[in-house]
Amino acid sequence: MLEIKNITFSVEEDGVRKTILDDISLTIPSGQLTVVTGPNGGGKSTLARIIAGVIRPDSGKIIFNGEDITEMSVTDRAKKGIGFAFQQPVRFKGLKVFDLIRLAKGTKKLSTADACKYLAAVGLCAKDYIDREVNASLSGGELKRIEIATVLAKNSEMSVFDEPEAGIDLWSFQNLIEVFNGMRANIEGSSIIIISHQERILRIADEIILVKNGRLASRGNADKIIPQLMGTDSVELSCNIADLWKGGAAK
Ligand SMILES: Nc1ncnc2c1ncn2[C@@H]1O[C@H](COP(=O)(O)OP(=O)(O)O)[C@@H](O)[C@H]1O
Ligand SMILES: [Mg+2]
Repeated sequence: MLEIKNITFSVEEDGVRKTILDDISLTIPSGQLTVVTGPNGGGKSTLARIIAGVIRPDSGKIIFNGEDITEMSVTDRAKKGIGFAFQQPVRFKGLKVFDLIRLAKGTKKLSTADACKYLAAVGLCAKDYIDREVNASLSGGELKRIEIATVLAKNSEMSVFDEPEAGIDLWSFQNLIEVFNGMRANIEGSSIIIISHQERILRIADEIILVKNGRLASRGNADKIIPQLMGTDSVELSCNIADLWKGGAAK
C-alpha cells in the first residue's frame, strides 16, 4: 500500500514561487490498477517523480507498506519494490537492449527467449532489437516501449507507468492493453499505477484518480469518473479523452 500524505511541491520561476502540487493526500491500496488522469500540466508526472524518488517534496510524506520512504533514493525505492517507466525515457549509451532487460530482471542469466518475451509484449519484433544499443539511433517510441518492457521484466510489487501510450502506434497499443489486463489478472500482492489520458486505459482501471491544478479533484471507479470527464453522464465515449481536454469539453 502506498500512502501519499500532504505532499506539496513548488518550483521557483523568474523569482516567483509556483506551486505544482498543493497538499495532495491519497492512499493507493495494493491489489488494484489505479489510473491517474487529468489535464496536461496538472501535476501528474511530478507526482509520479515524487513517488519514484526522482524529486523530493517540499513537505509531506510518502509511505510504502508502512515504511517512510520520503528521503529514500530511486535505487533504494526500486529495491523496496517500486518500478517506474518515465514519460520521457533515458538512453543508456553502450548498453544493449538485452542487457537492460537482464538488469531489470535482476538476474545474471537470462535466455534470449525470455528477454524477447518482454519486447514482444510491447509490440517490438524482438530479434530486431535485442542486440541494439540503447542510444540515439532508437526513436522516442521505440525507447518508450523498451522502457515499458524493462518495467514488465522487473515485475515490481508496484509498477508505475507515465503515459505509456505516448509514441505507440494503435496496434502496439492494443497489445499493451492486453499486457496491462494480464498484469491486472495476476495483481494479487502487487499494484499498478498508470498515468494516462486514454479512455481504453481508464476503462480497465479499478480506480481513477483525477489530478487537476496540483490537487486531487476526484476519485472513484470508471463508471463514476469517466462521465465527469465528459461533462455529462450519458455521453457515449467514442474518442480520446485527451482530445476532449484540448477542446475544453472536460471541466
Ligand atoms: N522542474 C520544474 N520547473 C518548472 N516547472 C515545472 C517543473 N516541473 C514541473 N513543472 C510545471 O509543473 C506543472 C505540472 O507538470 P507535470 O507534473 O509534468 O504535469 P502533467 O504530467 O500533469 O502534465 C507544469 O506546469 C510544468 O510546466
Ligand atoms: Mg506528464
